[in-house]
Amino acid sequence: MNTVEFQNVGAQYGDKAVLSGIELEIPANSIYALIGPSGCGKTTLLRSVNRLNDLIRGFILTGSIMVDGKSVYSLKDKESVRILRRGIGMIFQKPNPLPTSIMKNMTIPYLEHVRSSAKEARELALERLKLVGLYNEIKDRLDAPAIRLSGGQQQRLCIARSLMLPSNLLLMDEPCSALDPISTYKIEEILFELKKERTIIMVTHNIEQARRVSDYTAFFYNGVLVESGATHNMFAHPQHDYTQKYVSGRMIESVLQEVHIS
Ligand SMILES: Nc1ncnc2c1ncn2[C@@H]1O[C@H](COP(=O)(O)OP(=O)(O)OP(=O)(O)O)[C@@H](O)[C@H]1O
Ligand SMILES: [Mg+2]
Repeated sequence: MNTVEFQNVGAQYGDKAVLSGIELEIPANSIYALIGPSGCGKTTLLRSVNRLNDLIRGFILTGSIMVDGKSVYSLKDKESVRILRRGIGMIFQKPNPLPTSIMKNMTIPYLEHVRSSAKEARELALERLKLVGLYNEIKDRLDAPAIRLSGGQQQRLCIARSLMLPSNLLLMDEPCSALDPISTYKIEEILFELKKERTIIMVTHNIEQARRVSDYTAFFYNGVLVESGATHNMFAHPQHDYTQKYVSGRMIESVLQEVHIS
């Protein structure tokens, strides 16, 4: 299983509410796109799933987030949260390779979390690098610094690295926003491969990308979930006027100001 359910989720930083009444079910083995204008709360929602927001002082979450039917905010001790995070891969907008070699980027986190030999780690690393289509491009320089790879290659390395741990859930926050169309295409191809065994929640500002790769889409504005559902349906027959305007690129500030957290 690898489902996520948001039940009446609200979030605030100090006394500033940024999400309210979010109800959303993410089915297993799907790609779920989260879209909406800057500041609407997409990253906050995404980072709540693996409790990364715990690190921010004053952050408060209300309601429940269930991963595989278990409430993640009911986990009380640090060890349980660590185990939760280990099972959830996270990809950020900016690739974040470790300042070491390509191969060590792959094996260090693995050897830290999984009892295994260096040989096993290396074999799995090669398999994962092949899965993300990076192996052929870098096979001659596995011991070169990861930082020397191009941005698109670094992002694929980070995806491959997240696949070293047995995570069934991947959270991606604008993973292609800094990449050219070819690197973007390569990553989209990987997503199709990955969803056979995993669930992916992906924030994107690229409406066409949401349309191309996601099975479901949720449209947020000002901390409110305006509409969600099957992507082809939402793009072809948006129920809400705001959604229609946003996905067709005709949303303007004066329209957006009408939607607010109640
Ligand atoms: N650490 C923080 N402290 C206080 N407020 C924050 C913090 N992080 C985010 N916010 C606020 O919460 C709201 C939602 O931010 P969030 O980053 O979730 O939006 P977003 O939809 O991901 O935007 P973008 O598309 O620009 O990445 C914004 O008003 C933002 O200013
Ligand atoms: Mg964001």
